[in-house]
Amino acid sequence: MTKVIKSLRGFNDVLPQDTYIFNKTLKTLLEILDKYNVSEIKTPYLESTALFARGVGEATDIVEKEMFSFTTNDQESVSLRPEGTAGTMRACIEHGLSYNQEQRLYYFGPMFRYERPQKGRYRQFHQLGVEVLGIKNPALDAEVLIMINDFWKALGLSEYINLEINNIGTSEARAQFGKALYDYLVQYKEQLDADSQRRLESNPLRILDSKDAGTQEILQNAPVLEDFLDQESIEYFEQLKNILTVNGINFTINPKLVRGLDYYNDTVFEWTTTRLGAQATVCGGGRYDRLVEILGGHATPGFGFGLGYERLLLLIEEIHGKEVAPPAQVFIINDGNVQAYTLQVASLLRNAGFKVLNNLAGGKLKKQFAKADKSGSPIALIINEELAAKQAVNLKYLATGEQKEVILSELVEHIKI
Ligand code: HAM
Repeated sequence: MTKVIKSLRGFNDVLPQDTYIFNKTLKTLLEILDKYNVSEIKTPYLESTALFARGVGEATDIVEKEMFSFTTNDQESVSLRPEGTAGTMRACIEHGLSYNQEQRLYYFGPMFRYERPQKGRYRQFHQLGVEVLGIKNPALDAEVLIMINDFWKALGLSEYINLEINNIGTSEARAQFGKALYDYLVQYKEQLDADSQRRLESNPLRILDSKDAGTQEILQNAPVLEDFLDQESIEYFEQLKNILTVNGINFTINPKLVRGLDYYNDTVFEWTTTRLGAQATVCGGGRYDRLVEILGGHATPGFGFGLGYERLLLLIEEIHGKEVAPPAQVFIINDGNVQAYTLQVASLLRNAGFKVLNNLAGGKLKKQFAKADKSGSPIALIINEELAAKQAVNLKYLATGEQKEVILSELVEHIKI
């Protein structure tokens, strides 16, 4: 036999039994986005590698080791998008949507990262992302967080997901803090885990979220970012906390939360759950007031987030169980040479709004009944040549066994579900 070709590691199919909840959940989220007057933007999956190097940051894990990059035939380095913010900003600059304007945008689609796959971490995954441009105000940050909170409410997840927030200040404050952190940690270089040793030179702030117990112990006495924040950042954070509290949004302050992408300043946040194991962050984001400028546009403040869609679906299944599409409401049994007629019957019912499975494969009556039972449909229509000739059907309620002959013109009013 010829060898079967399989999907690539970390690239998943979404199978028919899973697409129902996939689409249903998305519909719920899109309805909420619409209430917040957020419009959709679609950007390409493939962009110039330089966009991510400049936008996400040369020294981030994403750009250093997680991109699917290749050189095109005309020697251009391109990458599959590892995230959506940089591409959205590129599009806004390119089409004049950012300068002196306000934008509330969302995107939904696949992102690509060359990570080691495990539950909740894939090489192709979906993100629902939101980016708001042109507004720097803690009330805007709060509004976006309130919207995300609405997501969890609508999906019945509020109890299982927690908001962590921090303020990481300006890039100047972070540079000073980074230097102080470096000066402190370099004394213990040999005791740090290997990843942290590497990050010490390139991006010392990322050492803060190291999972290594030894490194965390060393960090206990390290300088803290809070002491480096300027007055403006401190006040901004105070206001945000107040607005969230007034609006009944629970949060915890996590002074070690710095996020893995370089473009953030001031507000950063993550929504995490204890129900998914290691891949606990379902949604993360923050403020990025310099990014548009870094990408060559006019200075424009920004705030947004990315929601990991597979992680969200895993959490929904963990909490509410698996939900599959409801069965057809009517199952049509084809007894004999009646297909042309059953197609007419099916059309009539579908036009009246019913979900219909027409068993065109036919076969022995007993087998067709077994199939009807298994399908979960509440109603079977049994149609044989005699009934077809009379323009009638036999309508059977599968739960009770109750059965009656009905003429086609009266069928719709007889179907009670
Ligand atoms: P991020 O934290 O890199 O942020 O990703 C956002 C979310 O995407 C994560 O919290 C996680 O749920 C999901 N995610 C990330 N990597 C994977 C993976 N390999 N497999 C499955 N899910 C994953 C960003 O991407 C920023 N662009 C978010 C943002 C938008 N900030 C401002 N605007």
